[in-house]
Amino acid sequence: MSAHVASPVFAGRQEQTARLAAGLALAVEGDPVTVLLRGESGIGKSRLVAEFLRTHAGRARVLLGTGGEPGTPFAAFAGIVRGLAPDLIGDERDRLAPLLAGQQDPRPRHDDARLRLFETVLALLARLAARRATVLVVEDAHEADRSSLDLLAFLVRSQRAAPGSLIVATSRSGEPATLADLGVLPWVEPLDLTLLRQHEVAAQVGGILGRQPDPEHTRTVFRRSTGHPLFVEALLDGDPATPARCSLPDLLLTRIARLPEDTRHVLRLAALGGARAGHALLAACHPDPAAALRPAVDAGVLLADGGDYVFRHALLREACRAGLPPGERAALHARHAEALRARSGPPGALAHHLGEAGDEPGALSAAWEAARHARDHLAYPEELAWLERVLALWERVPGAARRLGHDRADVLAHAVLAARRSGEDARGERHATDALAALGDRARVRRAPLLEQRAHLRARLGIGGALDDLNEAVRLVPTGHPARGRLLHALAEHLAQLSIPGDARRIAEQARQEAHEAGDAAAEASALITLAELGARLGHVGTELPKLATARALAEGIGAHRLRLRALHTESSLLREFGRLTEAQDAARLGLAAAREAGLACSAGARHALDLACAQAAAGRWAEALETVQHALAATEPGADHTALLCLKAQIALWRGHTAEAASIAGRARRRLPGAALPRDRLLLPPLDAEILLAQDRPGEARRVIGDALASEHSPGPPHSVWPLLLTGARVAGAAGDMRLLDRLRVHADRTRIAGPAQRAAALTFEAETCRAERQPDGPCWERAVAAWQALGQPRQHAQALLRLGQARFAAGERGPAVQAPLREAAELARGLGAAPLLAQARDLARRGTG
Ligand SMILES: Nc1ncnc2c1ncn2[C@@H]1O[C@H](COP(=O)(O)OP(=O)(O)OP(=O)(O)O)[C@@H](O)[C@H]1O
Ligand SMILES: [Mg+2]
Repeated sequence: MSAHVASPVFAGRQEQTARLAAGLALAVEGDPVTVLLRGESGIGKSRLVAEFLRTHAGRARVLLGTGGEPGTPFAAFAGIVRGLAPDLIGDERDRLAPLLAGQQDPRPRHDDARLRLFETVLALLARLAARRATVLVVEDAHEADRSSLDLLAFLVRSQRAAPGSLIVATSRSGEPATLADLGVLPWVEPLDLTLLRQHEVAAQVGGILGRQPDPEHTRTVFRRSTGHPLFVEALLDGDPATPARCSLPDLLLTRIARLPEDTRHVLRLAALGGARAGHALLAACHPDPAAALRPAVDAGVLLADGGDYVFRHALLREACRAGLPPGERAALHARHAEALRARSGPPGALAHHLGEAGDEPGALSAAWEAARHARDHLAYPEELAWLERVLALWERVPGAARRLGHDRADVLAHAVLAARRSGEDARGERHATDALAALGDRARVRRAPLLEQRAHLRARLGIGGALDDLNEAVRLVPTGHPARGRLLHALAEHLAQLSIPGDARRIAEQARQEAHEAGDAAAEASALITLAELGARLGHVGTELPKLATARALAEGIGAHRLRLRALHTESSLLREFGRLTEAQDAARLGLAAAREAGLACSAGARHALDLACAQAAAGRWAEALETVQHALAATEPGADHTALLCLKAQIALWRGHTAEAASIAGRARRRLPGAALPRDRLLLPPLDAEILLAQDRPGEARRVIGDALASEHSPGPPHSVWPLLLTGARVAGAAGDMRLLDRLRVHADRTRIAGPAQRAAALTFEAETCRAERQPDGPCWERAVAAWQALGQPRQHAQALLRLGQARFAAGERGPAVQAPLREAAELARGLGAAPLLAQARDLARRGTG
């Protein structure tokens, strides 16, 4: 054997080390940085990270997440959290319990528990990083469990809330989609590791041999290894007589083949577990595992770590597994299962080994247990996978239902919920359909919740049948049944989404009553919120606000955070629509505080920040609105609400006359828009883009933007999103002289409801703009618009309407105070706001008006 198995000299990689160091420097400054380190197995990802941490991260705290025990939920994070145990404060320990195998959060749990867990980890990272720069490393993300990946992705998306942190994730080429999606974030940097160059291989060879290598030998090694560092190691360690075309796996195999049979037997057993083989397992299968494994340690195949053993490289583990005859493989898995049983190891691992050992009845029970364990630890994607395993084994194990104490429909019902909680809508929908078929028509009350779930999933998937499912669910459950309020509300909400408000109101009222009678506070609160939203569409607000207050109190009473937040969001947007801007800001602030209190500041905070910023902007408090936007962009998880926040920021820049800045922010907003955006969010960009194009004097292109937006709307969005599009559209049609576009806009306007004074003011303004575009006498229309905006206390819209009024009167031949008075007032408002373009237009016309 050569002097060293691995080279103590770290060869090359200066550029990659420098990029990691630059990332750390930025993180220290408070900027978020995530590096996705990618490359094939053995290329040197782990080595690069280790060297970087050794040499550059001296002053940083390092949180190192490695695979963890297979079958453990959140395996990549369990070790980190365990290591941090002494640093945990307050109720962090309880909140983080699901990350620690064998523990559960002792407090009651709601549907947002998984998100709250994620937020707790984020808050912990932020707290640690605020004290001292912190590097979070997640190794081998390509083989991490889905829950670990979801948590990692959440931390990366929300990283701006943890200034001082650097995240590094390593993965083999072909990284998981969860991570690939992160590439759009500006602070996420992919870093690809490629093969070493010849002089770098020379350095590695020198390090391994412990002396200056012979150049000819180096050249041969370089040629054969193509600069792959693990291959270099294997070549130097191998038999010089191995054929020149031998592949890396073959070389590794020969290294193992040289070991004694007894050693190889224990190695094979270890290789069928995870990266780490525990002493307990090995001792259960061999009288003296330390003696048996010593040759493997000497040969650099294993590293001894306490009583445990770790494979020095994943490919070596794979080599040990390769070519195992099926009989021996099954027997070894059975040994694993026995050892796991003896020490109550993770049920997921037990299920895996029993399955591989061919013990199907045992695997069935263990998979069911593993599903429950995953659910208790909030690892829903894993729960779903285990339930699907149970289903796959169902027909093969006689008496499966008796064994589990649950019938197949029950297993499917659990799978539906797990799928819904993991965002696996299509799988959930399929399981719901199977479950309904398995139940048949007689199990009336058991069918109802499945129909409800399926309706929800179908609506989210955009496939038909949701309304039928909900109608049937309601029909199946008799009046007085505790689930009826909830089912009725689900139906009402769906009807509201389908824009059938009359039926929706009637059903929501029924839902409220039945939920109240059954003592179902959550359903009652939901029904009240839906009723308030529907009532507001009819133009009521005074009668609707008390409903929201009751809903909020009910939600608070049962600790239903999301419901409470929904009530506050509805309250703020309703108040804004009705021009009660100060109260709208108060409700939004309460929402922000409630989100923080609930441990959901990052995931739910953006919505309330948006409510606050919109109300501030409408009231003319632009600087405050921008501050709110800035804070929310940094402190909350990117998503559709970030698009809306950026659009508002761009809009204010435009109002101030900073057109180029507005265009650049709008570009960022577009990149943040999620693929499956709601109509509400898809309608945000077109009016903004068109306004920017108008400001750039490009009415032709603006016309196209509006035309496309009108054409793409299969289902019209909610009125408060449609009115801004129509208003801008009318301005564009006027500027471009496009009467056909104007007609199309009118058709849409006729179909769009007007709820509340803000929408009424928008509708009046739309009418005035169309008059103006058609060169009809528009003065009286503008007078009405001016009065409407003035009453609402929205200074920009008010000033804009005043300017238009001045223009209308001027165009009608009027001069003197009739023109000057509105222009003066417009200029004053514009000056107060800092709305430079509006101010300039008002002044310009005022000058001409006196002439
Ligand atoms: N630049 C280098 N200089 C010297 N040795 C290196 C270098 N890069 C990698 N090695 C060695 O090559 C071997 C494989 O590297 P490493 O384990 O880091 O690969 P990896 O990319 O993490 O692979 P995997 O995806 O399988 O985890 C290790 O023994 C490591 O020490
Ligand atoms: Mg590695």
